[in-house]
Amino acid sequence: MFLEKHLASVAADVLQKALSLDESPNALLRGTQDPKFGDYQVNGVIALAKKAGKNPRELAEPVAQALAERPEIAKAEVAGPGFVNLTLDAAWIGGVLSSMLGDAKLGVDPVAKKETVVVDFSSPNIAKQMHVGHLRSTILGASLVKLLRFVGHEVIGDNHLGDWGTQFGLLIVGMREYGDEAALAGDALVELERVYKLSSKRAKEDEAFAAEARAELAKLQQGDADNRAMWQKFVATTRTTLDRIYDRLGVTFDEWLGESAYDARLGGVVELLLEKGLAREDEGAICVFWNELAEKGLEVPKRLAKQKEPFIVRKKDGAFLYSTSDLATIQYRRERWNADRGVYVVGTPQSLHFEQLFALAHLLGETMRLEHVAFGSVLGKDGRPKKTREGETETLASLLDEAEERALQSIREKAEEGGLRIPEDEWPAAAKILGIGAVKYADLMQNRTTDYRFDWDKLISFKGNASPYLQYMYARVRSVLQKGDVAYEGFASTLAPEEPAELALARTLLRFPDVVARAAEDSTPHVLADHLFAVASEFSRFWTECPVLESEQRQSRLGLCVLTGRQLEVGLGLLGIEVIERM
Ligand code: ARG
Repeated sequence: MFLEKHLASVAADVLQKALSLDESPNALLRGTQDPKFGDYQVNGVIALAKKAGKNPRELAEPVAQALAERPEIAKAEVAGPGFVNLTLDAAWIGGVLSSMLGDAKLGVDPVAKKETVVVDFSSPNIAKQMHVGHLRSTILGASLVKLLRFVGHEVIGDNHLGDWGTQFGLLIVGMREYGDEAALAGDALVELERVYKLSSKRAKEDEAFAAEARAELAKLQQGDADNRAMWQKFVATTRTTLDRIYDRLGVTFDEWLGESAYDARLGGVVELLLEKGLAREDEGAICVFWNELAEKGLEVPKRLAKQKEPFIVRKKDGAFLYSTSDLATIQYRRERWNADRGVYVVGTPQSLHFEQLFALAHLLGETMRLEHVAFGSVLGKDGRPKKTREGETETLASLLDEAEERALQSIREKAEEGGLRIPEDEWPAAAKILGIGAVKYADLMQNRTTDYRFDWDKLISFKGNASPYLQYMYARVRSVLQKGDVAYEGFASTLAPEEPAELALARTLLRFPDVVARAAEDSTPHVLADHLFAVASEFSRFWTECPVLESEQRQSRLGLCVLTGRQLEVGLGLLGIEVIERM
């Protein structure tokens, strides 16, 4: 059950009856900042009173009285200029939590309108190592796929590899000029990166070389057999390295449709734009001029309407671009899946690209909801772009190595302090789960739109807002159950929270369905991370204040424990983070 929706409709009903309104009003339900004022506040009376020319406090009185009659509500009080503060009924909370405990989806009802959503994420470029920048797209995207699926959507996770761009011309001539086949057979990406660097530097200084690279690219795109074979080799070797990283991260895709998959459509896309008068030729290139489209009276977003810079879809030499293949991709996603929604998990620097892409797709009549789920950069502890100790841009592989090493170190320290129950031979496996989980959580707990500082000491910690702390709380739940010889799977009981610490935990647990729905709808996994941290913190307080196994409320309190464990397990799972039963 979605608590907020339920209460809002209860409040709207009560308002309608108490004030004898013709239509159901908007109750304007808000969570309160301070528990002193109860759990929720109904604000809608004020606007209604204004409209009717009545005193809002007077009007709020009968509303409060009627609300207090409801089983959901223990107390309803008029406050301030005419708010009604609601305190939820403890027995009612217990009942909702009891049924949540018996539900595989922990109270998350399927969405009313099921959509087909394509999540375009990770999408690194071929022949380059993945860097920390790709980390966010991969981690965020993987979590969004899980969240959207969990709430009931049909989801396609697509790795839109950059496998068709200008880098291939440079790589083909570069391999000829500087390449080392033996090195390519070894660590291919290192060799490809080395060659690419030399080539792109040379192309800047040597026009003949640059022209050759462009010619090779054109040949490749026209289907030249030798160049195709080289390209295939670049793609295949890069895939091997990528697979290793995804495997470590536990990330999978439903599709790997890179830019090259759309090659055959590119010409048609340009033709269509010309035909519809959305693009025109300019100095040999085919361009979309936003200012001109706006002058023609077409619907152009404000920010683009004055823009003189065109959106280029075909270069003078006939080459297609990122823009062209992205347009073709939208066309394909419509035809193949009839997608309702397209979510692009890509860094903020590409905002302008997506704004133009979406605007153009809409002008072509596309009705898919297109969203750029943008994110900021990962910074080092010093607030500058994150680098390795040697000052290089950090590869993802080395970052994950460090995460696992540091997690192992933390496990060792925690074991020395006492209080860790992982047998020593399981430390390496646990370090993987803790290390990778910590990196993911550090990313997902951030509001994605901002940059964040990567701080190893904070993120691999058994205290504070970090995933090892949450995983530790989960293991603690499992350990209580084991001690009491109580089953975790399938545990059922009637929850009846009474003590303040029980009630505080219960109120937090109650929000899980709302939180998951919001995180999925707004593409904001941090909302879920915040919730899990609140659950762990409230559980920790409950654990100190309320005995469980020896208490008269044993069954109810065990119910709180199991529900805490399940929310942590399922919630972390939605963030792509594993749990450990014994810690
Ligand atoms: N390959 C691109 C990059 O690394 C990201 C692609 C994102 N997806 C898309 N459909 N444009 O910058």
